[in-house]
Amino acid sequence: MELNFDQLAMLNGEHGPAAQKAMEILDALGEIYGAADMVPVSSVQIAGVSYDNLGEAGLQFLTQMADGGGRARGLTTLNPAGMDVENWESLGIDPGFAENQKQVLEAFARMGVVTTCTCTPYLSGNLPHYREHIAWAESSAVCYANSVIGARTNREGGPSALAAALTGYTPKYGMHLDEHRSPTVTVEVALPPAYTAGAQDMPGEGGLRTMWFGALGKAIGEKLQGSGKKQVPYIKGIGTASLEELKTFCASIATYGGTALFHMPGITPEAALKTPPVMTMRVTQDEIDAAKRSLSAAPSEEVDFVSLGCPHLSIKEIARLAELLDGKRVVKEFWITTARPTKHIADRMGYSAVIEASGARFAVDTCCVVAPIKGRFNALATDSAKACYYASGKNEFQTRLLPFDKVVMEALWEG
Ligand code: F3S
Repeated sequence: MELNFDQLAMLNGEHGPAAQKAMEILDALGEIYGAADMVPVSSVQIAGVSYDNLGEAGLQFLTQMADGGGRARGLTTLNPAGMDVENWESLGIDPGFAENQKQVLEAFARMGVVTTCTCTPYLSGNLPHYREHIAWAESSAVCYANSVIGARTNREGGPSALAAALTGYTPKYGMHLDEHRSPTVTVEVALPPAYTAGAQDMPGEGGLRTMWFGALGKAIGEKLQGSGKKQVPYIKGIGTASLEELKTFCASIATYGGTALFHMPGITPEAALKTPPVMTMRVTQDEIDAAKRSLSAAPSEEVDFVSLGCPHLSIKEIARLAELLDGKRVVKEFWITTARPTKHIADRMGYSAVIEASGARFAVDTCCVVAPIKGRFNALATDSAKACYYASGKNEFQTRLLPFDKVVMEALWEG
């Protein structure tokens, strides 16, 4: 791979040991993937922030990079951490874990990383533009950035995203190149008329459409996985989609299909530039219903944990939540996960006070997947197909997938 003077200087240690290590990581990555050179990146999002995932070895690595003079060269934000930084005690987080998590965040802060911990950085000031080269790591955000925004990023790992932050570069391969952004398969979604009418779901349909987009992401994702190769789907048949529906869909298709980019005519910006491939898959409403059913096995009586905010809630969703919880009292542990800047808006609007008066808790900076809660609950109710995947796989909870409004009802229902 060809390196410019700036990159060679870093590789030779002229910018300190952390930048040298970072450039070594990127150089090796570029060689593995056959990149001809590197491209500057102006936005980075780092995953693997929870101490639950990082462990002691991860903390040591970050501390060494901070001690070695590592300094982010561009806007860099973080994926959710293992706890709410301000409110971890009331969420039942162990003090030893909290101490380690704080050290992780301190190491990032010393490197000039903005410690906004969210999987929806595009809602909190880290919003790239069309065709911008970036280095993001969270799979749902990668899919959103590539598909909905038309920015360009591979799915980075924690170390390669940090390396991109400290050098300002990433190897130019995969999603950074036009030739890898063309669709490889057409997916025809056969929808009932109610879904093509174009109605946006919040608050009109109680989150039904958003949950449906999660089930659709699972149904398509699993079909793509079944093809045995990495696919870029060109998805036909979807009339409209809101931001909330698209963030849910991205989370789901990335989880179940490993998808980093899709095109949807009339919805995503690059679709109009592409020709739908001849090879076609069909997804029927029956398959989408089956995807939903497979995530909804837990009966209501078993649910002892309720969570909304995978991916992190938008302010529009929080406003709806405040409307639903006004004057009510929840009877189950109920976590609302969102980004700190979004919570600040909710505070100012009075939404937080209404929500907290109901007994529901904000779990800001974190989520029900990356927090250390394995085995703590029996069954989770949520509107997120992605949260269901990790709730059963990582945390060993049963799951009950419901539309947004019904998730709230679940928290209010005594059983
Ligand atoms: Fe975000 Fe956690 Fe879901 S990182 S996409 S809320 S699993």
